[in-house]
Amino acid sequence: TLCWCASAQKTEAITDEAKVPAYTLPAVLALKSGQPVTDAKSWTTKRRPEILAIYEAEVYGKSPARPPKLNYEVKSVEKQALGGKATRKIVTIFFSDKPDAPKMDLLLYLPAAAAKPAPVILGLSFGGIHTVANDPGVPLAEQWTRDNRKQPSAEKSRGGEASRWQVEKILAAGYGLATVYYEQIEPDFAGGMKYGIRPLFFKPGQTEPEPGDWGAVAAWAWGASRAMDYLEKDKDVDARRVGLIGHSRLGKAAIWAGAQDARFTFIISNESGEGGAAISRRDYGERTTALNTRFPHWFDGNYKKYNDRENEMPFDSHMALALMAPRGLYVASAEGDQWSDPKGEFLGAANASPVWELFGKKGIGTMTMPDLHEPVGDSVRYHIRAGKHDVTEYDWEQYLKFAKAQWGR
Ligand code: GCU
Repeated sequence: TLCWCASAQKTEAITDEAKVPAYTLPAVLALKSGQPVTDAKSWTTKRRPEILAIYEAEVYGKSPARPPKLNYEVKSVEKQALGGKATRKIVTIFFSDKPDAPKMDLLLYLPAAAAKPAPVILGLSFGGIHTVANDPGVPLAEQWTRDNRKQPSAEKSRGGEASRWQVEKILAAGYGLATVYYEQIEPDFAGGMKYGIRPLFFKPGQTEPEPGDWGAVAAWAWGASRAMDYLEKDKDVDARRVGLIGHSRLGKAAIWAGAQDARFTFIISNESGEGGAAISRRDYGERTTALNTRFPHWFDGNYKKYNDRENEMPFDSHMALALMAPRGLYVASAEGDQWSDPKGEFLGAANASPVWELFGKKGIGTMTMPDLHEPVGDSVRYHIRAGKHDVTEYDWEQYLKFAKAQWGR
């Protein structure tokens, strides 16, 4: 259902383009002082840190530094996985030395037929690593119920998200696929925080996040960076060629991970919507109030200041997306997913593009929303496809072409 209608009129979703208010975006290429940014060096040394600091303070919250060392254990290696098409590794990554602290399992498929080290696409998964392919060798993840219980996944959920991952296509392109299950980083419900990694970083006596502290989206992003820490250690992985994909709420997390962690050579933000790639000032589809009310645990407490006040944001999504420059950025939408505001996602990517041009790269290259199934752009790419909120085979076909262009193989 599109309309999550709260009492206040303003939180109602607009789905009529004619009702989008007039707005002015904050300039991506001007310092807070007003001074224009006209070259890559001032972007990198001055404007980029300003924007990163705004997003840390006001949106996603400040994440802890990279831990000094990574504790991990390779649980299994199977050279004949997926009918001989892949080597499969399962690796447990520990977030703390404490025995009952959260840990996550990373599933890595590497193409049997391709040279190693192989480039890898890393993705955060909604359903658990056993849902990514119909592979009986992957243990069933434990799932969190929305009322605080952990329970084993049902066998029938194995491979349940296979269409969202397209493992065989990825392997055939010569790439590996790595996934981690986001709820092993922090379970996704209000109150789930205490079962996730955020409390590991509380000050003595702290039990709740303070304004400015990181939210769940930032925690998931941080977990993706810890997965990257492992990929850097695996000799079968070409760690200079790792891209990150996320869908929806995990597309928001992918943007924030890519913004902070330059080891990701590209980011794919699939239907990330509000709090992701979509321009907030359009008030179209999901709005800030709806996001903060239904998912109070996702963002920094300061983000709630902007409920019904999108126009007062000292940022908008084009600025978050610009933090990827000059690396690759792919933003994608679905026609049936008006809640995510496809046009707003396009405009986020298009208005970020001038930053790539400072580096001599091409961005989206047009301010006109393309038709269905007509991908546009170069280092920044965008498409909208028919169908619902999902990740499909069509999406992956585009992403694999993009990866090839980015990685030069
Ligand atoms: C909800 C939410 C979106 C989010 C989506 C998802 O629809 O309102 O912001 O992107 O869930 O993660 O599927």
